[in-house]
Amino acid sequence: MQTSGERAGANVSFWERTAKKFTTGPLTEDVTADVCVIGAGLAGVTTAYLLAREDRHVALVDDGPVGGGMTGRTTAHLVNAVDDRYSSVEKMLGEGCARLHAESHTAAIDKIEEIVNELKIDCNFERVDGYLFLPPGGSVKELMRELEALHRAGLREVERVDAVPCAKIKSDAVLRFPRQAQFHPLKYLDALAQAIVARGGRVFTGTRVMKIKDGDRVKIVTSDGCTVTAGAGVVATNCPINDRFVIHSKQAPYASYVICMRVTREIDHALFWDTALTAEDEKQVIGPVPYHYCRFARDEEGDVVMVGGQDHKSGQAQDFEQRFAKLERWTREHFPFVAEITDRWSGQVMETVDGVAYIGRNPGDTNVFIATGFSGNGMTHGTIAGMLIVDLIGGRENGWAKLYDPERKTLKPVVVADYVAENANVAAQFRDYFTPSAAKSADEIKPGKGAVLRDGMKKIAVYRDESGTLHTFSAVCPHLACVVRWDDCEKTWDCPCHGSRFDCLGRVLNGPAVSDLNRVK
Ligand SMILES: Cc1cc2nc3c(=O)[nH]c(=O)nc-3n(C[C@H](O)[C@H](O)[C@H](O)COP(=O)(O)OP(=O)(O)OC[C@H]3O[C@@H](n4cnc5c(N)ncnc54)[C@H](O)[C@@H]3O)c2cc1C
Ligand code: FES
Repeated sequence: MQTSGERAGANVSFWERTAKKFTTGPLTEDVTADVCVIGAGLAGVTTAYLLAREDRHVALVDDGPVGGGMTGRTTAHLVNAVDDRYSSVEKMLGEGCARLHAESHTAAIDKIEEIVNELKIDCNFERVDGYLFLPPGGSVKELMRELEALHRAGLREVERVDAVPCAKIKSDAVLRFPRQAQFHPLKYLDALAQAIVARGGRVFTGTRVMKIKDGDRVKIVTSDGCTVTAGAGVVATNCPINDRFVIHSKQAPYASYVICMRVTREIDHALFWDTALTAEDEKQVIGPVPYHYCRFARDEEGDVVMVGGQDHKSGQAQDFEQRFAKLERWTREHFPFVAEITDRWSGQVMETVDGVAYIGRNPGDTNVFIATGFSGNGMTHGTIAGMLIVDLIGGRENGWAKLYDPERKTLKPVVVADYVAENANVAAQFRDYFTPSAAKSADEIKPGKGAVLRDGMKKIAVYRDESGTLHTFSAVCPHLACVVRWDDCEKTWDCPCHGSRFDCLGRVLNGPAVSDLNRVK
């Protein structure tokens, strides 16, 4: 099995099964550019495209193919109905920020539609309604409070309706969000990457960036020792690879699971989410409460329903089969017209302590910009990143800059509590150095599986490939030395601290780490 360089996990997502990914060749010489964008996911490609549209000379660099990161593992709802509810954004950042939040996500959907029309992209873009409903035991009062917050945020077209269409969902209250949208993210990225090249931009895939040095001219150094020298650098690697600590203490990685099931009848496309605000869910100490998100998508054989959820802090659960089984049960109950599972996979989202992404100038830098902390709204946050960063580089005012400023601080108790809880959780992961290993020896590890073993005071990550050969690495994450854990769902080594992930052969897939796990003889 080969994962590194192709995709960010062993499972093939619906998008990966139904589209190709854009690739070129790696960077093999020193080059210059107006702007170098690092990371070719939704955020990086959008930024590079919008820069190229302004006749900027861009270099777009990615370790893998275009769309090989989390953009290939999304569910691609395009919504202004953000995951971190408006009532909660209002509580944490105030009414003005909630309004800007709504305005920017609405503008991002419009921008995607504009680009789809401009480039005539065949990526199944369609405007659809979205429905937010209550799980059993959910609070109608809470949902009505959210409706009031939505109206205060300027989303006055959101309304209470009697029922959720097409699905067998009973809910005491439902909100309808008109003019949301959906698309095929990899078909969209492929067209944008081609348009960047057509406008004279350069795309280098299979090129890992190791270092980004700020200055009047930013220097970006690759693992092969090549340099891109540019007027500005944009780090769009999902989790920034240029920041060791500051940003990583303000956001946390969560795994999320998705299944697709074949739909057996004609259906009107729509988006659905539950609030998951039951009393039981509210007891969860850190992170987003568990919830479900659903949409339809079409392949050559017809429609599938795509259902996601079952989130947990990355590296901190091993029961993925049960999580998929729960998603399947939930889907069969709520969409009783489904047949077999066609695809299943998992991915990782970055959750910030106040629910809003960090997009803008990297703290302490002049010409380096970052885009991260997109939570479950990375399609719109990634598009906002493109729109905002292009303005910042061009020296133009942008009303969203303050809201998304990576340096923003809020001392609201609810944000401070989340910050403290998330960082205490990271500190607790260091206990792995002293706890016994899941397996006593490599003999217990079956083909296709991995485990962390103890060797005296050392922790060793051991993977046995399908032919029985053992591959051994130091289990110490090269970012800040947490101990990685085996993820049997995606056959990866996941760091439970700040989001680094490595394939079964120790090759880094996700930042903040830039280097592989060290091989041990
Ligand atoms: C299961 C799931 C469901 C989701 N559902 C939705 C949804 O419905 N709607 C929504 O809006 N969002 C959703 N999201 C979130 C969204 O998919 C992500 O936030 C978004 O795709 C992130 O885009 P990105 O460009 O920041 O990162 P990525 O797509 O991960 O791109 C980052 C790129 O950086 C590259 N890279 C990393 N390190 C280096 C390096 N050192 N050198 C060179 N390149 C490097 C990687 O190879 C990668 O291609 C979902 C996410 C998941 C996991
Ligand atoms: S990601 Fe920070 S220690 Fe691993």
